[in-house]
Amino acid sequence: MRHPKQARQLVDRFGRSVDYVRISITDRCDFRCVYCMSEEMTFLPREQILSLEEIHLLAKCFTELGVNKIRITGGEPLIRRNALELLQKLGQLPLLDELVMTTNGSQLVQTAKQLKKAHVKRLNISLDTLDAKKFKTLTRTGDLNIVLKGIRTAINTGFERIKINAVILKNRNHDEVADLVQFALDSGIDISFIEEMPLGFVDAHNRAEAYYSSDQILTDLQKQFTLEKIDATTAGPSDYYRVQGSQTKVGFISPHSHNFCSTCNRVRLTAEGQLLLCLGNEHSIDLKTALRSHPDDTDYIKQLLIDSMHIKPEKHEFNLSEQPIIMRHMNSTGG
Ligand code: GTP
Ligand code: 5AD
Ligand code: SF4
Repeated sequence: MRHPKQARQLVDRFGRSVDYVRISITDRCDFRCVYCMSEEMTFLPREQILSLEEIHLLAKCFTELGVNKIRITGGEPLIRRNALELLQKLGQLPLLDELVMTTNGSQLVQTAKQLKKAHVKRLNISLDTLDAKKFKTLTRTGDLNIVLKGIRTAINTGFERIKINAVILKNRNHDEVADLVQFALDSGIDISFIEEMPLGFVDAHNRAEAYYSSDQILTDLQKQFTLEKIDATTAGPSDYYRVQGSQTKVGFISPHSHNFCSTCNRVRLTAEGQLLLCLGNEHSIDLKTALRSHPDDTDYIKQLLIDSMHIKPEKHEFNLSEQPIIMRHMNSTGG
């Protein structure tokens, strides 16, 4: 719900209004998922990333310009020191309606209760396979049992909604889509299937060969489940279906096969303080430098945010068979 005092001031050249910001609070992660990173990764030195105070200030500016939803992402957001403190402060922003988070689940056993207390409403948790060995192969360093325990803890903590995110790759986990839906059904939660996006160079597979379309997943699922198309909008890129007779929603995020850019309502803040106007393009402005050269001048920052709308691109163009044109890996943007 929009606060009566909150005007929509972030409107781009195509008339799209931005009311949602995804904030990556760290590029670091305890996993090394094959679609997200290379095995060897260099992360940003600490002085190059925004402080928690800077993130909070920017978040506040955004809410004063019409943003009412913030999703905290990473890397893995919960491995940033004092992440919970930041979340607590963000949860108190008067104009913010929804504070939500995307996580790999590895820290949820210890943190779920505090997240709920900080007013985090909903969680998206990555889970690409239910097979412990495959999980290790896909995440390189992750432990399936810890993540399953984390999901269980989160369910018991009573968030408004929990959604599993599964990136599906041909010949790696495409044969598990029905099992993953069954897991979501048994757990009383939702699930989204995601087509892999070519962000940054990855060395574990060929992205064109690993492409498994949302339409193919839907066909596979329909052999086992009755899926009804629904109009649920979380103002996100998912197309949603409901498993008949249940509360479980099955979403499809299909950047290749179903372009959703015309309804884009979001921008991204990277851990390094870059404002990215589109996940699939390089258009950005350097908020860290702006902030550090104009400390406490929030009017200046807010004007920059309003002006940044002029460079928001119309859409992303992804091509799986070419070298990635976007060289940043997903962990530096949080998806
Ligand atoms: P809501 O939009 O908040 O409902 O959640 P979500 O499912 O979009 O967010 P989440 O962080 O769980 O991301 C799931 C997948 O969607 C990730 O692979 C993201 O990269 C992808 N995604 C989210 N927003 C966009 C977008 O604007 N463009 C593209 N191409 N992908 C997106
Ligand atoms: N393509 C699509 N989704 C990705 N994710 C990470 N890397 C990629 C990629 N290259 C997903 C993660 C997480 C979400 C934030 O983005 O699995 O669920
Ligand atoms: Fe970490 Fe998420 Fe990237 Fe996996 S997809 S390596 S969990 S940031």
